[in-house]
Amino acid sequence: MSPTINIRRAEPADAQAIATVQTASWRTTYAGLIPAEFLASMDIGRRAAVWHTGLTDSTRRHCYFVAEDADGQVVGFASGGPEREGHPIYKGELSAIYLLDSYQKQGIGRRLVQAVAGWLHENHYHNMLIWVLAGNTQGIQFYEAIGGQRIDSKTINIGGENLEEYSYGWLDLTLLF
Ligand SMILES: CC(C)(COP(=O)(O)OP(=O)(O)OC[C@H]1O[C@@H](n2cnc3c(N)ncnc32)[C@H](O)[C@@H]1OP(=O)(O)O)[C@@H](O)C(=O)NCCC(=O)NCCS
Repeated sequence: MSPTINIRRAEPADAQAIATVQTASWRTTYAGLIPAEFLASMDIGRRAAVWHTGLTDSTRRHCYFVAEDADGQVVGFASGGPEREGHPIYKGELSAIYLLDSYQKQGIGRRLVQAVAGWLHENHYHNMLIWVLAGNTQGIQFYEAIGGQRIDSKTINIGGENLEEYSYGWLDLTLLF
């Protein structure tokens, strides 16, 4: 448990903080997995603009949550919405979840997943999947620890390199609460 960490819905004003956490977490998580030039070239301002667009989207088809410490500093975030590739069974998707390195393994990731799963459930999704790089051992161990089942694999291209990804699914979101 992480009692001093508050999980709340993200607001447009969080876009910069989310992009900052995303960039820092990508650089520590994916060092050695994703080409170094790609990680070095990540632009917080450009990413913040993309998050801001999502956070101000009036259709509200996606959800965004942040984890903040006692000082109101954003230390992690997660997002979710409809599954993006037309999967026949899994209709919801956990599209991103990232914590700063020093806040990992304290129960915050589980709480962020619960927040997204709760939103999906309220919005009539019964299940969800996520995609994780095959080389992201910690991510995979996390998803398996919280009940995810491996579904599928695919190859994606990041920074000119072909990388394998696995999908993990939860058929019954209520088991996550
Ligand atoms: C993956 C991530 C979101 C998990 O969040 P977290 O706060 O570190 O995980 P939690 O502390 O909530 O762990 C929940 C459960 O997963 C288990 N777990 C988490 N990381 C683990 C690891 N590396 N190895 C084994 N088990 C792990 C915990 O032991 C815990 O199980 P328990 O409750 O039975 O003890 C976080 O570590 C992170 O941001 N990592 C870097 C970014 C990343 O990989 N994101 C996913 C991209 S697809």
